[in-house]
Amino acid sequence: MDILEAILTRRSIRKFTGEVLNDDDLKTILKAGFYAPSAKNFQPWHFVIVKNSKTLEDISQIHPYAKMVPSAGCCIVVCGDKNDQNEEGFLIEDCSAAIENMLLAAHGIGLGAVWLSMYPISSRSEPIAELLSIPKNLITVGMIAVGYKSEEKTTDDRYKLEKIHFEKW
Ligand SMILES: Cc1cc2nc3c(=O)[nH]c(=O)nc-3n(C[C@H](O)[C@H](O)[C@H](O)COP(=O)(O)O)c2cc1C
Repeated sequence: MDILEAILTRRSIRKFTGEVLNDDDLKTILKAGFYAPSAKNFQPWHFVIVKNSKTLEDISQIHPYAKMVPSAGCCIVVCGDKNDQNEEGFLIEDCSAAIENMLLAAHGIGLGAVWLSMYPISSRSEPIAELLSIPKNLITVGMIAVGYKSEEKTTDDRYKLEKIHFEKW
């Protein structure tokens, strides 16, 4: 899919067939994450891949807006290493760029995906970090539920002229 078409047609997908993501598709998505820009090119991200159905169920119980995770069949937990990027704001931005890259890659190869919040809500990030044995020097920034979609969505017009400010506000 053309890059602009992917950007303009990507939507959050929350309904999945239940079929588990194959390794080639997962690698394609992860690769896109690794190629995101990062402050000073520190690339502080780590990706925890969860496919175990019990763990996916546990995640959906902890997170109030992640009920689709078990049916997606795969969850990518994105965390940033504070030892690699000690400026927290940059760490969050770096990992967010990786998340967006992966959402676009998933869409580009015909899969469905949705960004699931974690940072800065500690009631979500802390129990999920504990569940997955994520070390304390990492911040769990967000997750992606990804799988084979069973819904299609169109996109509304989001181009807002009143939000564009040339030269000065
Ligand atoms: C930081 C962030 C956190 C989000 N958290 C959730 C979430 O926890 N659960 C969810 O279903 N969608 C979540 N979303 C997806 C948004 O709801 C979605 O992007 C928004 O409604 C726009 O819809 P679209 O992605 O289809 O364009 C999140 C998106 C972002 C950027």
